[in-house]
Amino acid sequence: MLKILHISDVHCGPPHLADLASGVVQLAEQRVPDLVVVSGDLTQRAKPAQFSHARRFVDSFSAPTLVVPGNHDVPLYRVWERFFAPFAAYRKHFADELEPVYRTPDLLVVGINTAHGLTFTEGRIRSPRLLEVAELLASVPETVVKIVVAHHHVVPPPRFGSQQVLSNAFEAIDLFSKAGVDLVLSGHHHQSFIANSEEFYPRGRPPVVILHSGTTTSNRGRGSEKDKNTCFWIEIGDASMVVSNLRWEPSLERFAEHSRHWYPRQERQPYILEGVPLPQAEPGA
Ligand SMILES: [Fe+2]
Ligand SMILES: [Fe+2]
Repeated sequence: MLKILHISDVHCGPPHLADLASGVVQLAEQRVPDLVVVSGDLTQRAKPAQFSHARRFVDSFSAPTLVVPGNHDVPLYRVWERFFAPFAAYRKHFADELEPVYRTPDLLVVGINTAHGLTFTEGRIRSPRLLEVAELLASVPETVVKIVVAHHHVVPPPRFGSQQVLSNAFEAIDLFSKAGVDLVLSGHHHQSFIANSEEFYPRGRPPVVILHSGTTTSNRGRGSEKDKNTCFWIEIGDASMVVSNLRWEPSLERFAEHSRHWYPRQERQPYILEGVPLPQAEPGA
């Protein structure tokens, strides 16, 4: 059984909530995940001190971690940096690797950087990175759990003003579904939702489960999660996957389960029911 904690939009800086940061670290100490995934926006304004703070926060997890940058990790107002060295501060004060890969015999997690200096809207995946991701996903057996992590979303959030997605979301979904990706983990909207790629893009079969975390440790929650904080707890076995949406409960002073979702895994491989006989009409019916 693989156990993964997915958090997002940490936003070190003025919006960061230290007690929730302690709370999510405590959660990880109690549940002992195999991996903690952080899907971007480590800082509020990409300042060196904010990256150093984020580094200390991520290092406080005992479990291995995989982190991708978000749009807030690119300077917004330091224009020269934004266009000519958008990840210099990230690399200097947080981590050199923008698109990390984590692998064990049972698990492949591929990070994708969707935030770029010239990106003003909902991000994009560099075409060469898509090719690299395709090769990585094809390099492991079907039985390996495959997860993709990106800051920006590949499907639009429900009940939300903007329906914009990653500029090459369709291409990405096609690739992920054909490669048998189990999960896509993202953040950015500060409102959690769970989606099925097929609802947005019917040609993307077999469908990929998409988890979009709200902000786990900041006061920037939006929409239905205004003033709320969320993350996901994921357990993946050979036959099924269980996803829990966890929400900070102020009265309990801890993250508690808000909803739970079950997905079959083995059935996803032969999802297109080739070879299954169609029901026969009853004689005389
Ligand atoms: Fe954010
Ligand atoms: Fe963001």
